[in-house]
Amino acid sequence: MRLAGKVALVTGSARGIGKGIALRFAAEGARVGILDLDAGACQGVVDEIAAAGGTALEVEADISDPAQVETAVGKLGDEFGTVTVLVNNAAVMPVGAIHETSLEDFERCLAVNLRGTYLVCRAVIPGMLAAAAGSIIHIASVTGIIGLPRLAAYSMTKGALIALTRAMSTDYASRGIRINSVSPGTIDSPMLHDFVAWQSNPEALLREYDAMHPLGRVGRIEEVANVCLFLASDEASFVTGANYTVDGGISVKGEQPRN
Ligand SMILES: NC(=O)c1ccc[n+]([C@@H]2O[C@H](COP(=O)([O-])OP(=O)(O)OC[C@H]3O[C@@H](n4cnc5c(N)ncnc54)[C@H](O)[C@@H]3O)[C@@H](O)[C@H]2O)c1
Repeated sequence: MRLAGKVALVTGSARGIGKGIALRFAAEGARVGILDLDAGACQGVVDEIAAAGGTALEVEADISDPAQVETAVGKLGDEFGTVTVLVNNAAVMPVGAIHETSLEDFERCLAVNLRGTYLVCRAVIPGMLAAAAGSIIHIASVTGIIGLPRLAAYSMTKGALIALTRAMSTDYASRGIRINSVSPGTIDSPMLHDFVAWQSNPEALLREYDAMHPLGRVGRIEEVANVCLFLASDEASFVTGANYTVDGGISVKGEQPRN
């Protein structure tokens, strides 16, 4: 029970990595806010957590909308108390080089991945300051560190989150709030399968992704959740401003797929 007594908010937690983080946090004793676009999908995760003996609350919101974010964070605070663990996980990933990316997709990417992160932080941080305690984890990506093809707008936002981690850590270190980022390599999640579905030979690309990672495979959702659990817990009490790669070594090797 490494998060006993803590209230956590995980954005984008109706599926994929966010859901995995929420399940893990709940299993370690946190009460967890399940925030995503669709209330029904959020409630499904809440029910799964309850069936496993944990406690969670559905807080539907589009994180790019200030009013929805305030309502969601207010609801969670009213039900569970001050949020002291925040995982900014929700993101969208338009596929394309810059000239192939529509202005609409580009702006949505900035609105969710960056504006959304700002809005959720802005809503949660006053409570953390009052409690003089908090751990904020931004889910960035290896694309914020190395170049990968056809992910230009997305990579731009992920690099920004790594910079934001450093900047925020300097603002809040003396006030009890730690800020870190986690940069996954390729993880077997719905987002990965959506991405390869766009390519000419999805199965071949998945095999290439396995081979691209020095550990010889893509990662599992639980492997990202484990690092988030450490950063959220008091075991990471001297860790702030860090970017943890969870990428099977790919950011060190830096190879790229050929198809
Ligand atoms: N899967 C990977 O290989 C991989 C690699 C590196 C980084 N990441 C990062 O990990 C995080 C999770 O990725 P995933 O693979 O689980 O993605 P996913 O697409 O499976 O899940 C993302 C979730 O975010 C939600 N979401 C999207 N826009 C939202 C909004 N405006 N408001 C609220 N919720 C919103 C979606 O509904 C979805 O449930 C993302 O930040 C992603 O960039 C993923």
